[in-house]
Amino acid sequence: MSTTAKHKVIFDTDPGVDDAMALYFALAHPDIDVVGITTSFGNVHVEQATANALYLTRITGRDIPVAQGVPVPFAKEPGTPPDFIHGADGLGNLNSRIEVGGEAQVESAAEFIVKMARQYPGEITLVAVAPLGNLGLALKMEPQLPKLLKQVVLMAGTVDEPGNVSPVAEANVWNDPDAADLVFTAGWDLTMVGLDVTHRVVLPSTFFAALAEKHKHVAMDTLSHAVNFYANFYQSIRPDLGHACYGHDVLAFVWLVAPEIFETNSGRVRVAKEGIGNGQTMMAKLPIPYPQSGWEASKPETRVCMKVDAEACKQLIDKTLSSSWLQAPLAPVAK
Ligand code: BDR
Ligand code: CA
Repeated sequence: MSTTAKHKVIFDTDPGVDDAMALYFALAHPDIDVVGITTSFGNVHVEQATANALYLTRITGRDIPVAQGVPVPFAKEPGTPPDFIHGADGLGNLNSRIEVGGEAQVESAAEFIVKMARQYPGEITLVAVAPLGNLGLALKMEPQLPKLLKQVVLMAGTVDEPGNVSPVAEANVWNDPDAADLVFTAGWDLTMVGLDVTHRVVLPSTFFAALAEKHKHVAMDTLSHAVNFYANFYQSIRPDLGHACYGHDVLAFVWLVAPEIFETNSGRVRVAKEGIGNGQTMMAKLPIPYPQSGWEASKPETRVCMKVDAEACKQLIDKTLSSSWLQAPLAPVAK
């Protein structure tokens, strides 16, 4: 049994295959207590993200509050969900779903975040692995949010590694650059887990097939099916990886429980909001004054993950998901 105090987490997500991996890592890890899930548009429309969050949790036997969030970006023209990456349903086009019921909270994602942060001041870690509109809105509702939350961990952005939606932009930031820039300048204890590290951790589809075989549970079958679809996409663009995928979102939780396997740099991070470079996360690597406004020393710094021990990361994911954490799926509630 672990002796570490549990991280009380709100998980902001757009499930999404790697979001599902991340959720299952969080539910399985003894040091993480997921106290709520908030959803965003991104990999799928927000209604589908909410349905997936409810489904993914309830098939593991958990009844965790899910609050639906933003359907579109703050200012940018909404795009089309990438069904060729995550499937039209976000989970690799599942053949069927079992009946588990579940309904979203009446409050919005931003309202839920603000309510929980006020109720548990200094205790909540917000792990966000989707476009950042929910956090941006919550900040507008409660300007003290950076003091009320314990910390914020993002799967977002990239510094040195090429982008995945343009040569310089990572998808979560690119999907809502205005919200992302608000988040990077808000002044919380902020960690960015971006492509600089997520592209170092390649997870073969056989890794998840073996977990499904071990558990023989609908939740791991669902994840393995979704990963197969996701790996088909990666194989089409990166045949050198084999039938495999990046774990992106799960690395945000790996950082939370095992920061010692990462190397980080700190610096001011800003987001390009317009033009061909929109969605680029730019990091000030030198502590020098610049004539360009927006880089004043008063701007808060972000802790940015630059390197990861990929083997240790894979082992931790395997050990965590192999443990006995799955329960019988919940039944729908009779009305
Ligand atoms: C991020 O974008 C989404 O497609 C993934 O779920 C992940 O959060 C990777 O760039
Ligand atoms: Ca995601």
